[in-house]
Amino acid sequence: MVSDTTKIYSTSEIRALKAKYDKLLSEVSLHDRLYYRENSPKISDFEYDCLKSEVERLQEILTVYSMETEDTIIGDDSNSKFQSFAHLSPMMSLSNTYSREELFQFSNHLETTLGQRKFSYVIEPKIDGIAINLIYKKGKFFRALTRGNGMVGDDVSANIKTIRGLPWEIENYAEAIEIRGEVYMDKQTFIEINKMREEQGLELFANPRNLAAGTLKTLDVDEVAERDLKLITYAIGHCSEKIVNFQSEVLELLKNLGFTSQGKYWPAEDIEGAWKCIEELNEMRHTFPYWTDGAVLKVNELQLYEILGATAKSPRWAIAYKFAPERATTKIKNIILQVGRTGIITPVADLESVQLSGTNVSRATLHNADEISKKDIRIGDYVTAEKAGEIIPAIVAVDRERRNVGSIPFVFPKTCPSCGSQLIRLPGEVAWRCQNLCCLPQIQRRLEHFVSRTAMDIDGLGTAVIEKLMAVEKLNNIADIYRLTFNDLECLEKFGTKSALKILSNIDGSKSRPLWRLLHGLGILGIGEQTAKILANHFHSLDNLIAATPEELEQLNGIGMKLSNAIVAFFREQHNKNILNDLRMLGVVLGHTRSEISQKQNQNSRFYGKNFVLTGTLSSMTRQGAIEKIEHLGGNIAKVISRRVNVLIAGENCGSKLEKAQSLGLEIWNEADLLENLNGSVA
Ligand code: IVH
Repeated sequence: MVSDTTKIYSTSEIRALKAKYDKLLSEVSLHDRLYYRENSPKISDFEYDCLKSEVERLQEILTVYSMETEDTIIGDDSNSKFQSFAHLSPMMSLSNTYSREELFQFSNHLETTLGQRKFSYVIEPKIDGIAINLIYKKGKFFRALTRGNGMVGDDVSANIKTIRGLPWEIENYAEAIEIRGEVYMDKQTFIEINKMREEQGLELFANPRNLAAGTLKTLDVDEVAERDLKLITYAIGHCSEKIVNFQSEVLELLKNLGFTSQGKYWPAEDIEGAWKCIEELNEMRHTFPYWTDGAVLKVNELQLYEILGATAKSPRWAIAYKFAPERATTKIKNIILQVGRTGIITPVADLESVQLSGTNVSRATLHNADEISKKDIRIGDYVTAEKAGEIIPAIVAVDRERRNVGSIPFVFPKTCPSCGSQLIRLPGEVAWRCQNLCCLPQIQRRLEHFVSRTAMDIDGLGTAVIEKLMAVEKLNNIADIYRLTFNDLECLEKFGTKSALKILSNIDGSKSRPLWRLLHGLGILGIGEQTAKILANHFHSLDNLIAATPEELEQLNGIGMKLSNAIVAFFREQHNKNILNDLRMLGVVLGHTRSEISQKQNQNSRFYGKNFVLTGTLSSMTRQGAIEKIEHLGGNIAKVISRRVNVLIAGENCGSKLEKAQSLGLEIWNEADLLENLNGSVA
């Protein structure tokens, strides 16, 4: 932001600056394309911001010397797959800075412009997601637009409607109102999706923002719904009536209207006070469920916004102060090859321990063999580490100058580092896999997964205990858990009577866990917690699921061809069949437990156990809202009409599904029928 336009430049210097400006501008436009349109940036936000501010600095100098420059435009995220519509008022961007000094300059500038007028600040977390404009007309949800080029954005309403808790109706304040906010993916969901992708040998998403952006631009609504996007609102764009006077009131109003608004924000009287709040935010932001890359400092008094005005791309009443990514230099002591539950070999850097974003980091994933060779990462290298998306420690750069003369490139092995089997790479996958199901680390990871909190939840049977029991050959597969005796456990080093008894009691208790926990615990490729719940709800017992055809499975919401094939293949495998039989013999309940059955039977029979298909649009609730209500009452949602479907729920403008359902003689409910049945049901 601060540029030296007072310096006198010679003609040749100016020419050189212009050449540099053109080069950097084309780099910015390349990275804009990668970031906004392809959601796959090749440089970090910090590097991008540095590049952009250098372009702006050169632009100011060249303008003084009357050289032609392009007015820096707001990044354009529009995509021809979607219909586009104009915003009711433009969506601008924020100017940003990484420097405290520039933040104070911003405040000085406000004081000069506003003179005698009193003003204060609001400080909010800057959520790193995708800007969204929600338009409500006469209090009803009308349309959701991405920022696009600031004037016109993409209509992503269908995808936005999958967001849980999005208000369908708001108090009828005005003819038309624009609610502005940020769509994001929370850190936990991001970690889970990447974990699943890693198990499937697919390339990982760089950070939650890119994954959320890619999801928002997906055409398959079911796929979007599975990704569980979230929304935080923080502003009102156009509003046909004046309803509030302060930004702090906007945030409270949004909450009262039913939106998720900023959970935490700070009012401040002056810039010194504001700085303290920013420091506080910086301290606590790692605990937020979303990714925050800075603070937004806003003038609190809305009536001053008109006086302050805006530049071509950003308002003068707000600025984003961005936290420079915490980076640290450290040394790679070793590169370890970890064998995962599904046999995937993940290279991990063993680092000299460093402090990074509040924690001690001594490991960083190197993702896969390609990543290592692309960055030419070697054992003994000095590297820069950063937490990608504030979450995962990653190596962002290698310091080539500090490299040892004798250092050699890392060679990814062709055989499993644990069992020596030949590694293979499946088509379309980036990962190398060990295919030997008896490879010990794979067995250990499978056992760890089975007992984990999101599966059978067997407390006390942690990694160390599993390792010891495997070493004495008491644990070779998941069924062996239920064969463990008091003696097996008590014999373990440092194990007392009390802890042995406790573990045995926990193992016994796990025999009657809900069916979804068992399904998740089996570790079928691609079956996460959510899908396990869908399967358990639909099939009620393992035997029913084993008997299902791929076509039957694909009818379920959230299950595609790849998953259905993986499920069928898993249950056909003889080794798996034997283990499931053993589990049955050992007393593990392979269906809904008695308490689950009576709980579900208590629910209303109008929904319980029936298969529903939704078509057309509903006016009283979102599609996702309807799905959640039906599933809550024990109903299942299918995607296609077949004889197995019990009820078609037909909203407005429905297409061929209605005709097909009629020809099969299925029960058909309109929206009023749905509401009536929902109202008469016990939730
Ligand atoms: S106010 C004129 N408040 O950051 C734009 N924006 O880098 C007013 N953002 O375009 C936006 N958190 O998409 C505002 N608390 C917050 C925000 C926020 C994230 C986004 C927004 C904006 C971008 C600028």
